[in-house]
Amino acid sequence: MKKYELLSFPQLGDDRGHLVVVEGMKNIPFEIKRMFYIYGTKDNVVRGQHANRKSEFVLINLAGTCKIKVDDGKNDEIIILDKPHEGIYLDKMVWKDMYDFSKDSILLVLSNHSYDSEEYVRDYEEFKKEMK
Ligand code: TYD
Repeated sequence: MKKYELLSFPQLGDDRGHLVVVEGMKNIPFEIKRMFYIYGTKDNVVRGQHANRKSEFVLINLAGTCKIKVDDGKNDEIIILDKPHEGIYLDKMVWKDMYDFSKDSILLVLSNHSYDSEEYVRDYEEFKKEMK
């Protein structure tokens, strides 16, 4: 698997509406240990701005839109998340900036690892040096 990858989830819709299932080791490439969600984000806020030594993530924007700039140390790419049935997988040591959240954005984040503030790389120059 690449350091980051777009994921598309089947919409199990019928005439009542849509339903999307995410399941660890099935359409999410890890066992889900943690989830958190980001909403009510103010204008011009950039979240993230770090890489993680242990945590892998899948980000799914459940409502509204947001942008994710991902950087694996070699390439960077801007991904627009605007569908509740799409996500992006981020491996360990991928730098991410989340920004341009719409007012109604709810960004769901799934991870394989519990929270540990020590696993964060917050210095971009250090990240680039390590990823050379
Ligand atoms: P922060 O690291 O700033 O979020 P972002 O991913 O946007 O950079 O986290 C905000 C606060 O929430 C900070 O006090 C740490 C806390 N936090 C947890 O306690 N557990 C978690 O899983 C996360 C992601 C954050």
